[in-house]
Amino acid sequence: MIHNCEYLSPTRRVIGSDALDKVGPKLKEDGAHKVLIHYGGGDYLFHGLLDRVKKSLSDSGLEYVDFPGVKPNPRLSKALEGAQFAKDNGVDYILSVGGGSAVDSAKAISLGMSYEGDLWNLWKKADTLAPGVVLTPVSGVVVYPATGAEAGSSSVILNEETHEKFWEWDERLFPRFCFMDPQYTMTLPRHLLTNGIGDIMSHFTDNYLTDDAHFGIFDNLLETTLHYLQAELSHIILDPERDNLADRTELMAVASMGCDDSINWGLNHEKASHQIAHPIGGLYDTIHGSTLSIIYPQWLRYIYKYNPARFARWAEKVWDVEPKEDPLETAVEGIDRLTDWLKWLGLPVKFSDAGLHPTDEEIDFMAERAATAFCTDFIGANRKLYKEDIVQIYKDSL
Ligand SMILES: [Fe+2]
Repeated sequence: MIHNCEYLSPTRRVIGSDALDKVGPKLKEDGAHKVLIHYGGGDYLFHGLLDRVKKSLSDSGLEYVDFPGVKPNPRLSKALEGAQFAKDNGVDYILSVGGGSAVDSAKAISLGMSYEGDLWNLWKKADTLAPGVVLTPVSGVVVYPATGAEAGSSSVILNEETHEKFWEWDERLFPRFCFMDPQYTMTLPRHLLTNGIGDIMSHFTDNYLTDDAHFGIFDNLLETTLHYLQAELSHIILDPERDNLADRTELMAVASMGCDDSINWGLNHEKASHQIAHPIGGLYDTIHGSTLSIIYPQWLRYIYKYNPARFARWAEKVWDVEPKEDPLETAVEGIDRLTDWLKWLGLPVKFSDAGLHPTDEEIDFMAERAATAFCTDFIGANRKLYKEDIVQIYKDSL
């Protein structure tokens, strides 16, 4: 059901074999003079990507400075260091190269360049960026189809001192451009690819699992997208005999839509999965896609009874479940099939699958962070999940 809302998705997507050659001209057009290039240590750097980006900037007459060192679960300390480095070097544009972590870190650097207080205040929701503050623009060269951060207005950062991982969002954080050349995804390690595919599935599932049973155009688009992802695209991409550039292009495109609300604006979608998953990354530094797969099956088992019509339809349309007389039975079979698909991807579906064995104290710590991530004492659309509910979901996922 589309509720009253305003929808904005301003990021310009540049996709294809010539995308990287457009980086310089597009950034110049956008007013850049000196660019901070922010990246991590992925293998993609060794396939000429960074050189190509730099050449495009130089050919357009733009200056640049390197700021490497971003890690998965991007760190607050790196963002603070980057903000200072950018200011010291007179940077007026930030370009991330890599995956969602690089983009999120670039957004945090941009915030750090303009925000005067303790930067972590923005993530722990102790403060907000003042209206009228103009941020240093961010764009991203994306090589890892997963988080959708390249076209979203949020930034997820890990505070390594407190072991907390939180979300900050602001319309001013939308990247101006995201540049996607699918060729560079061909050399991604398989575990990154599967974690990315799992993450993409979670975004569209979250978007679909609204708290009502009214099925309209967006629900139909989401069903088609989810079914295509589980039944076709994931199988093509992970089969070396069928994998190809055209379908890698599809994967990059769909990943970039995961957090831009383009086929779910106005829907009251579920956000609880990510809130429950983030503290796992905060505490154990686990890769994002795997934190989601660890909790997703048991999270769904905890909430499906509160919206049987929607969960049953999800099972039928997305997971090809034959409808049963009892919609709850249909829904459970859908959750089983999702769990099997996650296992087929090679992702952990329990903490122990990832070699993690949280203590009661650690579960309490994570549940407290998850429950209060939105400045209330609960999360969730279909069912309000309080701290004790989240403790149970973690325990069910051991
Ligand atoms: Fe995600």
